[in-house]
Amino acid sequence: MIRGEKLYEGKAKVVYATDDPDVYLQDFKDSATAFDGKKKGTIGDKGRVNNIMSAQLFALLEEAGVKTHFLGLESDTAMRIHRLDMFQVEFVVRNIVAGSLSKRIGYPEGTPLKNPPIVEYYYKSDDLGDPLLCSAHLDELQVVSPEDLSEATVMSKSVNSVLQEFFAARGITLVDFKLEFGKDAAGVVRLGDEISPDTCRLWDSATNEKLDKDRFRRDMGGVEDAYAEVLRRVTGPESA
Ligand code: TMP
Ligand code: ASP
Repeated sequence: MIRGEKLYEGKAKVVYATDDPDVYLQDFKDSATAFDGKKKGTIGDKGRVNNIMSAQLFALLEEAGVKTHFLGLESDTAMRIHRLDMFQVEFVVRNIVAGSLSKRIGYPEGTPLKNPPIVEYYYKSDDLGDPLLCSAHLDELQVVSPEDLSEATVMSKSVNSVLQEFFAARGITLVDFKLEFGKDAAGVVRLGDEISPDTCRLWDSATNEKLDKDRFRRDMGGVEDAYAEVLRRVTGPESA
């Protein structure tokens, strides 16, 4: 596919136009940021890991009836995707307490939720630092319609069920993750963005060892090895 104009460069990906107006290329980078870009670094081979892993998980979700933006792999670090008009909301799905939820409600990391999953909404706004939104804020902002919000919420829970089972069979606990949705040219709501150790908390089921971007955020070391291990388990046979 012809790689056209660079349309957008984010912290972890570059999006290019193609010769088809409804198809974009999404190219994953090794660069990593955290805390609204205040922490910067590079994770070796991350672009390839996140591309190959996202491709496999999008294909799995499509098989399970969840519509995604994935069209096919283009290279080691790039995939073809449907052009979507993205909702300005991030959907965070949580099964176990970690990260900002632990700080917000005071439960220690690792506490199972009483009635999982929780779905939270965050406003995609770099200027505001992606704040958590409650439903009254969503009503006021009107960045996503109530129908689209409820459809994407149902889809988020389906994604959780599919991925929890998939990861469990590979010895990984799916703690939480962030999703982004948008509408294609036909008005169909699709899952976009990526599903990777950048956007999920993944813990080894036997040891609770962190196998995700928290190793980078928290300066724990072993970041590249953790990403490589997740890719090995995702692309390899079931182990548990
Ligand atoms: P949090 O506990 O920091 O709110 O993160 C929840 C999940 O969302 C976690 O799996 C990491 C992911 N996430 C992103 O993908 N991008 C972000 O900018 C943030 C803050 C979290
Ligand atoms: N990617 C986000 C940032 O750079 C945050 C994160 O993943 O922790 O701010």
